[in-house]
Amino acid sequence: MDYKILAEKAVEAKSKSLPPYSNFHVGAAVLTEDEKIYLGGNIETSSYSLTICAERTALFKAISEGERKFKAIAIASDSADFCPPCGACRQVINDLCGNIDIVMINHKSELKILKSSELLPFAFGDKDLK
Ligand code: THU
Repeated sequence: MDYKILAEKAVEAKSKSLPPYSNFHVGAAVLTEDEKIYLGGNIETSSYSLTICAERTALFKAISEGERKFKAIAIASDSADFCPPCGACRQVINDLCGNIDIVMINHKSELKILKSSELLPFAFGDKDLK
């Protein structure tokens, strides 16, 4: 899968996000190992802290459909620059996907690709629970 296509899917997912309080629209597209794509947008409620980020929406949709192995997640926002995943999403991505590619797209349709291990070095994980 060309990551350009995955990033365009994240842009598409942004159109279904629901952020009435921040007005900051984010879209995410998760790529499974067998090349299926799941989309998600951020969703906010009046109790602000109950917000869910686009990355977790997409990933939880995929997991709840039975997916377990992932290659990459793409993230898009309306900001001019690349939108990096927040700290909470970095933990969730690292736990549920391992060391996958994080694909970010900016307003010029340029891609920035980093590994989840680069975004969350010395991560806490299931190994620490043993
Ligand atoms: N947000 C995401 O959906 N993903 C990120 O990686 C960063 C932040 C959302 C959460 C909230 O709805 C809005 O962006 C502003 O923080």
